[in-house]
Amino acid sequence: MGSRIVGTGRALPRTRLSNQDLERRLETSDEWIRTRTGIAQRYVLVSGESLVDIAAEASHIALDRAGLAPSELEAIIVGTVSSDFGFPSFACQLQHRLGITDIPSFDVAAACSGYIYALSVADATMRAGEWGRVLVVGTDALSTMVDWNDRRTAVLFGDGAGASVLVSEPGPRGVLGSVLRSAGEHWNLLSVRNAAGTRCTFDAEIRRSADNAIQMRGPELFRIAVRMMEDVTRRVADKAGVRLEDIALILPHQANARIISAVAERLGLNGDKVFINVDRYGNTSAASVPIALDEALEAHRIRDNDLILLNACGGGLTWGANLIRW
Ligand SMILES: CC(C)(COP(=O)(O)OP(=O)(O)OC[C@H]1O[C@@H](n2cnc3c(N)ncnc32)[C@H](O)[C@@H]1OP(=O)(O)O)[C@@H](O)C(=O)NCCC(=O)NCCS
Repeated sequence: MGSRIVGTGRALPRTRLSNQDLERRLETSDEWIRTRTGIAQRYVLVSGESLVDIAAEASHIALDRAGLAPSELEAIIVGTVSSDFGFPSFACQLQHRLGITDIPSFDVAAACSGYIYALSVADATMRAGEWGRVLVVGTDALSTMVDWNDRRTAVLFGDGAGASVLVSEPGPRGVLGSVLRSAGEHWNLLSVRNAAGTRCTFDAEIRRSADNAIQMRGPELFRIAVRMMEDVTRRVADKAGVRLEDIALILPHQANARIISAVAERLGLNGDKVFINVDRYGNTSAASVPIALDEALEAHRIRDNDLILLNACGGGLTWGANLIRW
């Protein structure tokens, strides 16, 4: 018995910030941001908006497409580092917002790799026969964790949520395998102190001090990220006995278009086999892969029985990949 994704959804905050909007606040330029990252715009939370509401919206869409009611779920797993509380978990808040009681709900904290990790945990527990219908969400609001005076990080992140509904199913389709890795020794390449939840929105009066905002060693992280994404892609394909050339579409974490192209080049993959939407959303952390998956399905880039590969790396450092027969 394996697990198969039978419904996906995505939701974003309403406020769109273009590179031109950022030019008015920071010493940066549309040209620098586009050429160094591929990002043209991103969506950000504003005061009064709740990331739990956005995750609930994405979840309802995924549940509708799966033809399931919230009450039919047996577990909720959320990949996130953006809970407003130390506890309760984001997943418990989402469970309440969906009007469900009495099912296990928990978060998986792996920063930008959060959805990859959560999907792997869901698949393993479903294979073990623990649950039959699981909601897996990736959601983050890293725009609320940057120092808005720090141009090196403020331009990179956007907010959002992507959801998927998995059901247990025998047969060849579904999650074929996952590989998860982490390297705690590199924790200080990308980190943020735990303070303030998502209250420090783009427009908020309260601001994160530089010390409490995202700290990132970008160029070093760039080089490691490329190697990690390549490594985990090869490992998951090997583990499942699949050749890279048989993969129809790779949906990578959308941190930077240059990282994505460098990974594709090292893997010898044609650009049209790699999905990119970082231009429209920026780096949405754990939301990026499930948002990309939902968009790729909507654009008919994935057909039944296609082999698709999801991969990501992020703070921790963490990295991982899932291989799926759609
Ligand atoms: C952050 C990143 C885009 C920076 O690109 P880069 O080409 O490495 O640029 P550098 O950091 O070397 O900076 C080059 C110059 O641009 C400047 N710069 C940085 N951000 C800028 C901005 N937003 N606008 C204009 N100039 C900027 C720097 O100050 C530096 O100027 P200097 O040479 O005068 O000091 C890139 O390192 C990256 O994507 N790293 C990985 C980030 C990542 O993946 N994070 C999330 C992982 S999940």
